[in-house]
Amino acid sequence: SFPKKVKIVEVGPRDGLQNEKSLVPTDVKIQLINMLSEAGLPVIEVTSFVSPKWVPQMADQVEVLQGIQIFPGTNYPVLTPNLKGFQAAVAAGAKEVSIFAAASELFSKKNINCSIDESLQRFQKVVRAAGEANILVRGYVSCVLGCPYEGKIAPAKVAEVAKAMFSMGCYEISLGDTIGVGTPGGMKEMLSAVMKEIPVEALAVHCHDTYGQALANILIALQMGVGVVDSSVAGLGGCPYAQGASGNVATEDVVYMLHGLGIHTGVDLKKIVEAGSFICKALDRRNGSKVSQASCKL
Ligand code: HMG
Ligand code: MG
Repeated sequence: SFPKKVKIVEVGPRDGLQNEKSLVPTDVKIQLINMLSEAGLPVIEVTSFVSPKWVPQMADQVEVLQGIQIFPGTNYPVLTPNLKGFQAAVAAGAKEVSIFAAASELFSKKNINCSIDESLQRFQKVVRAAGEANILVRGYVSCVLGCPYEGKIAPAKVAEVAKAMFSMGCYEISLGDTIGVGTPGGMKEMLSAVMKEIPVEALAVHCHDTYGQALANILIALQMGVGVVDSSVAGLGGCPYAQGASGNVATEDVVYMLHGLGIHTGVDLKKIVEAGSFICKALDRRNGSKVSQASCKL
């Protein structure tokens, strides 16, 4: 059976915009985030405190975090790859951070320039510092259904990394199909392995839609009891270290499906569609949401 309520974690301003070829003006990012807050999203991942040499798109992280309107019911986490990023995030006013590991050694190396074990040691330091500062930490595991460099990834490896991050103190673990290659069968197998180690209440799914399987994969996850779904307005995004990966599943499409199932999200679909149209127009980009393309019929 499905959960009655699902929490949507909007990752477009970060996962989406980190990947745009041309630099997105800071005021456009801020307006997008304000529109997403206005739409009632409970969580909006706003930026990354990563090296500007690695991801130039996120170099305006302080201005973005300090420029947005803070809505009382919304959390605004930011990505932090290490203690340096964590300290910068807290100094800029972040109240929640996300750390990001991978279930693939080669992806870990390409994305954050260290092995999985080394990354877990770095994250341990971040979680410890966060505990002292009363900051919540969310944990990502990337490449849970496949890796651009290693191919197939064993569900047992995903479960191992996810468990390490949960045991460290992450309140939620988001399982990332970074390159969108998973199918519902693979999702079921992987989730079964992870659910042996972590309570399902602490799990989220983060599906990219490269192969058009994201909604189907999410539906399986919901059936298995997952109640947190990451998505990106207008299907923005990709990962700079996963060439060819398309954006996350579109928030509009996830919300449409959830509402159709009678599942509560607290999100105003019409306002999300407006936010998606705004950013696509500003970036002169195709809208990746099917619902948005069909919205004349809503
Ligand atoms: P490194 O080069 O190994 O780092 O990069 P380092 O510690 O040797 O430092 C090198 C330089 O970077 C130094 O500066 C540091 O000060 C600086 P220099 O002396 O050369 O001037 N530096 C920093 N600057 C700003 N903020 C920081 C920071 N740390 C060091 N936090 C590092 C290691 C982790 C920094 C780098 O690899 C990096 O920034 N990677 C980020 C990659 C990234 O953002 N990827 C995309 C997000 S992950 C994703 O999209 C997947 C996800 O969506 C889930 C899914 O889909 O599966 C989350
Ligand atoms: Mg992602």
